Amino acid sequence: MGYRLTRRNLFSAGAGAAAVGLAGCATTTSATASAAAEARGAFPPEPKEASLFGPEPGLALLSRNENPYGPAPSALKMIEAAARKGAYYTNEEATKTLAGMIAERHGVSPEQIVITTGSGEALSALALIYGPKGPIVAPRLFWDTTALYAAKLGLAEITRIPLTEDMNMDLPAMEAAITPETGMVQLCNPNNPTGIAMPGSVIRAAASSMAAKTTVVVDEAYIELVDDEASMTCIPLIKEGKDVIVTRTFSKIYGMAGIRVGYTISSAETAAKIRYTQMSWTPCTSIAAAIGCYNDEAFIAGSKSKIVEAREMITTTLDTLGLPYLKSQTNFVYFQSGMPANDLQKAMAAEQISIRGQYMDYTPWSRVSTGKLEDVERFCKALPRMVNA
Ligand SMILES: Cc1ncc(COP(=O)(O)O)c(C=O)c1O
Repeated sequence: MGYRLTRRNLFSAGAGAAAVGLAGCATTTSATASAAAEARGAFPPEPKEASLFGPEPGLALLSRNENPYGPAPSALKMIEAAARKGAYYTNEEATKTLAGMIAERHGVSPEQIVITTGSGEALSALALIYGPKGPIVAPRLFWDTTALYAAKLGLAEITRIPLTEDMNMDLPAMEAAITPETGMVQLCNPNNPTGIAMPGSVIRAAASSMAAKTTVVVDEAYIELVDDEASMTCIPLIKEGKDVIVTRTFSKIYGMAGIRVGYTISSAETAAKIRYTQMSWTPCTSIAAAIGCYNDEAFIAGSKSKIVEAREMITTTLDTLGLPYLKSQTNFVYFQSGMPANDLQKAMAAEQISIRGQYMDYTPWSRVSTGKLEDVERFCKALPRMVNA
């Protein structure tokens, strides 16, 4: 992140905390005291938005699959209103309101929705629930942070199934790897870092068959970005009573990665287990933001069109250079530059352009995220120089 802890800001933060502590004990005119303390410079300086949050000035941040076009104004308005009530724990009614809105769109009951602090929390909770039962069967390459979280605690093992030659999840091989001991299967559609979206009919047929043998989790973090979301989602399987859990997030299409809201859709029984396993209470500001923008169709359409435009800028550049890439339906592209991924990452970093480095042993494959159009343009101008150097 942009924030660097220096001696100077560490010291001033400490001084500020001390001042706040003292203010709490004061019995006299606290307003005068705090004004005096402020005059002495006892409080931390106003956060400098540019360096504390978001990318450092001048950095083209294209490495983390964020969507710089959020949060929507409809979300920001709600955040402000909720922040004013930040003294209070989040009302259950607020969480239920958001769950109700999500349930209504997907034609399920609100009890089937669990609101989480980013979908990462949901996936971590699932790894904790199912990991101890047995291995998590997953594609070799997927967003594995949450499965690794349970694995690092000794609570899960991951059975990674090689991708097909065209870098797809090998669904038949994954199904063949299921045993009575399997904890759960984790699918990711579209997958990260490949960006490949599997057709709904294919993934649903496979997930349905696997769910007869074990619990199937489908991470749909990027699904709102695909060409035809309705045809691709695995949510219909949940309505058919299959042992399937879908996770989604406000971090991508809604551009709220730092706000932290995600959710699961599952059976009501599974939802109860997830709620029980959750570790955090989603802040009222986050719930408010999600309520504000969930049905903001104008924002969603605008956000998607910017992402698609940026993605096309990237693929046009790759086409011009004759570089191979996977067909992405997400806000990132997995491509080969002809250079090892870490070398390209370093060369880009020297020009203040941040892209992803190597995944596992996939040395030739680089991942670049769509970001602000002007930042993507910088990447597109820099790439030909680097690959032709
Ligand atoms: C496939 C996938 N799932 C889930 C997440 C977690 O997102 P969040 O916790 O912000 O919802 C990410 C983050 O990049 C991701 O790529």
